Amino acid sequence: MHFQWYPGHMAKAKKMMQEDMKLIDVVIELVDARIPHSSKNPDIDALAKNKSRVILLNKSDMADQRYNNAWKEYFESRGYYVALVNSKSGAGVKQVQEIVNKACQAKIERDRRRGILNRPVRAMIVGIPNVGKSTFINSFVGKASTKTGNKPGVTKGKQWIRLNKFTELLDTPGILWPKFEDQLVGLRLALIGSINDNIIDTTNMALELILILGKYYPQVLINRYGVETTKVEDQREAMELLQAIAVKRSCLLKGGMPDIDRAAAFLIDDFRSTKLGNITLEFPDMPAEEKEISQTGEADARI
Ligand code: G4P
Repeated sequence: MHFQWYPGHMAKAKKMMQEDMKLIDVVIELVDARIPHSSKNPDIDALAKNKSRVILLNKSDMADQRYNNAWKEYFESRGYYVALVNSKSGAGVKQVQEIVNKACQAKIERDRRRGILNRPVRAMIVGIPNVGKSTFINSFVGKASTKTGNKPGVTKGKQWIRLNKFTELLDTPGILWPKFEDQLVGLRLALIGSINDNIIDTTNMALELILILGKYYPQVLINRYGVETTKVEDQREAMELLQAIAVKRSCLLKGGMPDIDRAAAFLIDDFRSTKLGNITLEFPDMPAEEKEISQTGEADARI
């Protein structure tokens, strides 16, 4: 599902989130394990002030296991409770309840001291479009739940899903807006497929991918496409490598010139379908300029 974000949409989503925040104890935020930095919305920190925080590194099956663990430690060191999950297969989903309990322990103790016993904690799932919120909810909730709360049509109250005697979940996830004003973030969101391809130039996406692969996965392009080197340090070298991939894959225009657009689309497809292997595009210790500044791409403000 692709979203077009306009300032009006964002303001509306933010307002709804603010309202929902009043009702809950814990925010369960899904990020994409391949780009935990770019798929996380920093505005949620202000909105979720004073709430317990859980981060789920979703689609961890598509990301690089070494960096999955590094990101888990990174977020834990910043006070989040963290789990690696694959919502599609259900792997890791069971431990989420335990993590939610841990994240809410202080609140449960506080309630107990005040004589409030057995009041379930209330949770909400949030995340940017396509990160896997619905898939996760289906997997997390399973069959054992019952809906509680007001009946629709009678009052406009929220619907809660009773997970067990400890937890209730708001049945509609909160949709977060991506940080699309940052071009590099826009490119990476497009690479994982959470932004419409026709908004961001495919060649720029491929060049960004090549720069990351050249630095962090030097063998991948050699193995997959038979190119001789993946030593790329700038845009120009990345373009040369894309041309080499085009030639190796026989993506040629009439007259024998490399068909860059086709090669770019090819490479991106191979990445998205994990034919390049399990690749993570962002790393906790990545230099700040690689996280936030880009000389590539034209991210559009209408994402
Ligand atoms: P959303 O509610 O946050 O918008 O996301 P949604 O659950 O619709 O998931 C978006 C896509 O991501 C779906 O793929 C879903 O199957 C896939 N997905 C979600 N979680 C995971 C995960 O942990 N691992 C993997 N590999 N994929 C995941 P789709 O192609 O749009 O649909 P489908 O063909 O899989 O049904």
